[in-house]
Amino acid sequence: MSKFTGYRCSVCGAEYGPDEVTYTCPADGGNLDVLLDYTALQGKPADELILQDEPSLWRYLPLLPVDDPGGYGTPLRAAGWTPMFAPARLAQKLGLRQLWLKDESGNPTASFKDRASAVLIARAREIGAEVVVTASTGNAGAALAGMAAAVGHKAVIFAPKTAPPAKIAQLLTFGARVLLVDGNYDAAFDLSIQASDEFGWYCRNTGYNPFTAEGKKTAAFEIWEQLTALSGQRSVISNQLSIFVSVGDGNIISGIHKGFKDLLALGLIESVPRIFGVQSEKSAAIANAFNAGTEDIQPVAATTRADSISVDMPRDGLRALRAATQTGGAYITVPDSEIIRSIAELGKVGIFAEPAGATSYAGLVRAVEQGIITPDDPVVVINTGSGLKDVRAAMEAVGEAPVIQPALEAVRELL
Ligand SMILES: Cc1ncc(COP(=O)(O)O)c(C=O)c1O
Ligand SMILES: [Zn+2]
Repeated sequence: MSKFTGYRCSVCGAEYGPDEVTYTCPADGGNLDVLLDYTALQGKPADELILQDEPSLWRYLPLLPVDDPGGYGTPLRAAGWTPMFAPARLAQKLGLRQLWLKDESGNPTASFKDRASAVLIARAREIGAEVVVTASTGNAGAALAGMAAAVGHKAVIFAPKTAPPAKIAQLLTFGARVLLVDGNYDAAFDLSIQASDEFGWYCRNTGYNPFTAEGKKTAAFEIWEQLTALSGQRSVISNQLSIFVSVGDGNIISGIHKGFKDLLALGLIESVPRIFGVQSEKSAAIANAFNAGTEDIQPVAATTRADSISVDMPRDGLRALRAATQTGGAYITVPDSEIIRSIAELGKVGIFAEPAGATSYAGLVRAVEQGIITPDDPVVVINTGSGLKDVRAAMEAVGEAPVIQPALEAVRELL
């Protein structure tokens, strides 16, 4: 028996049984929300909904639509449960009283995407899918390849040939079949779906497979648990809290929104935090729609330096837009120069972010400058990926180190 009751289309609202569909709405291609049996879960105390001994996203197994995938003693068991920092100097610089930073760089493959891929592998095991496939700007692929390798599954990854070398190295090292597409992410996306249909592979694509958002929602659960513990206030998770998320396809932000909606449906919070999406000015399809006050998202020709969020046509755009419009949040755009500068700013408090990871912080800086966020607003900003993923971008942010002769005189001259 399934651990979920079915799916609901985010476009037309049609509902489907657990075995009726696999990916998107057959009627209109809309993304599907996975429906849990909220009535059965509602009465349960929080300690039955959270497995306190699991230091990973699997602590939320009772709230996930998959069975326990096993994989004990492997990286599959280590995705999620990332630290929540309170970077006081950054808060001071921004004039904020309460600022937290959720750092996803410590995930097994060093990005947020491990959450989705871990849950995807659990689903693949359940339905007996031997080969998993995804298109990726790099991180989702590395995550799927890593989680698959952890438990001996086969993975096929389509990535643009321009993906940063570290991400390609991860794919290859994890033993995936890597196909570098001479085209952009959008081209890799379309090709991967054709290949998955043709060869019968189980497709993880973001904004296509409904289970990715279920993995990503665990970040919302962690924000809820960790902030409640850190602040000692049960009421800290409310519509007073603002959460800043970098957005490409829009699946991280919609997954986080789903997590808070689940908590609300279960009566564990009283209102959903305000969710802010941040995009590069050079990849701003969803922000454009937000600013135009429409749900009609039009493609752009994305060129941002933040490769992980460089997307022409967001595949989860509608839900991503609603994550902001339904919570009183907003979309904010930032120039690439501010994204690069944010890598250096985060570095000063010991956090190493790739460009897409630092984008959320760049958006927060903007929001403070524009008065959208005021000193009393509590804020969570998420670093979605490690700086080790794109070392060249980090070097752009901080410049080169001087090379000197091995002599004390040379040191003295420099100081
Ligand atoms: C580090 C990082 N940040 C942000 C994103 C954006 O996520 P989404 O495409 O779901 O909006 C990605 C996606 O690849 C990513 O890898
Ligand atoms: Zn539909």
